[in-house]
Amino acid sequence: PENIALLAIESSCDDTSASVIINGEVKSNIVSTQLIHKKYGGVVPELASRAHQQYILPVVDAALKEAKVTKNELKAVGFTRGPGLLGSLLVGTSFAKGFALANKIPLIEVNHMQAHILAHFIDEPKPQFPFICLTVSGGHTQLVLVKSHLDMEVLGETQDDAVGEAFDKGAKMLGLNYPGGPMIDKHAAKGNPLAYEFPISEMKGLSFSFSGVKTALRYFLEKKVKENANFIDENIDDICASYQYTLVKTLLQKLKKATRKHKIKHVAIAGGVAANSGLRNTLQETGEKEKWEVFIPKFEYCTDNAAMIAVSTYYKFLAKEFTEQSVSPLPRYKL
Ligand code: KG4
Ligand code: ZN
Repeated sequence: PENIALLAIESSCDDTSASVIINGEVKSNIVSTQLIHKKYGGVVPELASRAHQQYILPVVDAALKEAKVTKNELKAVGFTRGPGLLGSLLVGTSFAKGFALANKIPLIEVNHMQAHILAHFIDEPKPQFPFICLTVSGGHTQLVLVKSHLDMEVLGETQDDAVGEAFDKGAKMLGLNYPGGPMIDKHAAKGNPLAYEFPISEMKGLSFSFSGVKTALRYFLEKKVKENANFIDENIDDICASYQYTLVKTLLQKLKKATRKHKIKHVAIAGGVAANSGLRNTLQETGEKEKWEVFIPKFEYCTDNAAMIAVSTYYKFLAKEFTEQSVSPLPRYKL
């Protein structure tokens, strides 16, 4: 039987990544994280697209080399069409279009949020359908009913900030470096989650809101710092633990609600915030109580990577979902 070798490219935000998948098995996953944004405390779109332009060719070459695949063995090239930053998406999209033309292979466009969920199909154990996935990243917070590899329905999402934003903006207020999520995670592991209390938003149904808790943290810090200028430094672990506890509790409350409403016991998390140890641990504990079967991706497949784009490209290839050369990026691509 013929080998199905596919190349996939991810460039939606600040990671330039390429991956090769053969017959559904990921053979390489090269991720180049742009460090230039650190000194600005957030992703600068203009600099991100320039850096993608600079990294994309070496990253693709490295992915092919590691997989021991030559260009003429490839059957298609997949790429992230959106959602993401336009300038970043344009680099990956244009590169994939040129690559497809030059090598006379079809193009396959991939939705980045669908790919975060399909990261669960890179390794065993793979979730059974239907399952509910809580997708949590820097730009999204969604509860998704996953009916098959390519059939997904958003059950609820955030009405304002994403939970990743709540982590990153909270971290900024605490003087922690970008990206703040992992820094909060690190401090939280040493602190008391019940030291301080922050409000849980009372959104209807399966919607989320994270702007309130972020503002609550701001007022709390302003008040405490007025009383004691060293308050943050002296209590950083407890503040992080309490803030993270509130964010995770909010996520789990809605996840529980969704599983009950839809009578589903197979539960997964995906996206960058799925790397958070507080969320991973609490999900395991809640899963045991609720008798869920819980699926948590490996760390490297939580944050942005092209392996998840490769696995999505593979399922689309099998379904013969090819994309025209006239395609352009969709910064607000809906699931
Ligand atoms: O999925 P992702 O890599 O990029 C987007 O598609 O947005 O997610 C990035 C987000 C950032 O907000 C980052 O702070 C957060 O994921 N993140 C974490 C952790 N690792 C990454 N948040 C909390 N704890 C972590 N360990
Ligand atoms: Zn992402």
